[in-house]
Amino acid sequence: MKNEVEVVDAARLFDLIQQKLVKAGLPNTQANEVSKHLVFADACGIHSHGAVRVEYYAERISKGGVTLTPQLALEQTGPATGIFHGDNGIGQYVCDEALKEAIKLAHDTGLSLVGVSKMSHSGALSYYVKKAAEQDLIGIAMCQSDPMVVPFGGSDNYFGTNPIAFSAPRKEAPPVVFDMATSVQAWGKILDARSKNEQIPSHWAVDDQGKATTDPYEVKGLLPIAGPKGYGLMMMVDVLAGTLLGLPFGKQVSSMYTDLTEKRNLGQVFLMIDPKRFTDLDDFKEKIDQMVEELHQTSPAPGVEKVLYPGELAQITYEKYMQQGIPIATSIYQYLISPDVHYDQFSGKDSFAK
Ligand code: NAI
Repeated sequence: MKNEVEVVDAARLFDLIQQKLVKAGLPNTQANEVSKHLVFADACGIHSHGAVRVEYYAERISKGGVTLTPQLALEQTGPATGIFHGDNGIGQYVCDEALKEAIKLAHDTGLSLVGVSKMSHSGALSYYVKKAAEQDLIGIAMCQSDPMVVPFGGSDNYFGTNPIAFSAPRKEAPPVVFDMATSVQAWGKILDARSKNEQIPSHWAVDDQGKATTDPYEVKGLLPIAGPKGYGLMMMVDVLAGTLLGLPFGKQVSSMYTDLTEKRNLGQVFLMIDPKRFTDLDDFKEKIDQMVEELHQTSPAPGVEKVLYPGELAQITYEKYMQQGIPIATSIYQYLISPDVHYDQFSGKDSFAK
């Protein structure tokens, strides 16, 4: 199957997403925030967390699986710590509000650890940590996600693809922003291989026996990055973004599609560090610039044009797409311009069904 795309200007993409979410029932302010976030993700080339999610969000919003007027509140639990109660509002809006509190607390105290308790899917974590670095903080974010990954050596899914993002401010250039799932590949990449009738590499996923598979239709679980190391990181994320906040953990974490009328009760955590409390801020930012420069000067391996800093690919893509337009799969674009809110296709769906 050919992958056809439409190139869409960022402002138009924002409007299309915003209108769809409002039509589904999301209040304007929240729809604005989600739309900004999704456009950012697509502009960075993180298409797994951009406009592709709108129809699913619209269905969940329509069916009551998101609180439309969430009562948000920071419960400050110490000078630098707090739980931001999200009341199962839409993840991007809840997290953006929580981030504001985490940033303020870090500026006040030098450091903050704010857990976001109960929300729906929060999207691409780079969006949040980039904002922190733009305010001269080091930002770290982690969140829970659906249990789709086998533990190292196991054959039943237990942890989610639990992502980790990190940012650091620079002197003149945009911040360094690194953002990854702790599974080798996102589920979306398996779907992509299915749609193209392609085999997948054997280190991505396992079948129902826990055996590595190259057949995307046999996939029943994803694999952690770097074996036991990614597995350990996944647990760390679940402990910080779930257990620490008293939320469901491991295989008790809700699944994206099981019941779209139910709230998801997901957790996320923000760790913000003010470099000024440790060193001179300008000096710190210059050293990050120097680190980037030294990485750029590292001799590339055969077949590689240039060594990039972690996350640089997303930054390069962002600058290009914001200028030239963002490629969006035609099927998604058609949905966005249609009058329909959703096609009732996600609720009760088995993610692993063939
Ligand atoms: P990925 O594998 O595409 O990229 C991981 C990181 O490596 C990125 O920062 C990317 O810019 C960087 N990178 C890639 N190639 C590079 C190169 N040649 N040189 C330097 N850096 C390079 O990302 P992944 O793991 O597929 O995650 C995609 C998104 O999914 C993330 O935004 C993550 O936050 C999000 N996510 C969200 C979840 C949620 O429930 N909210 C769950 C899982 C993932």
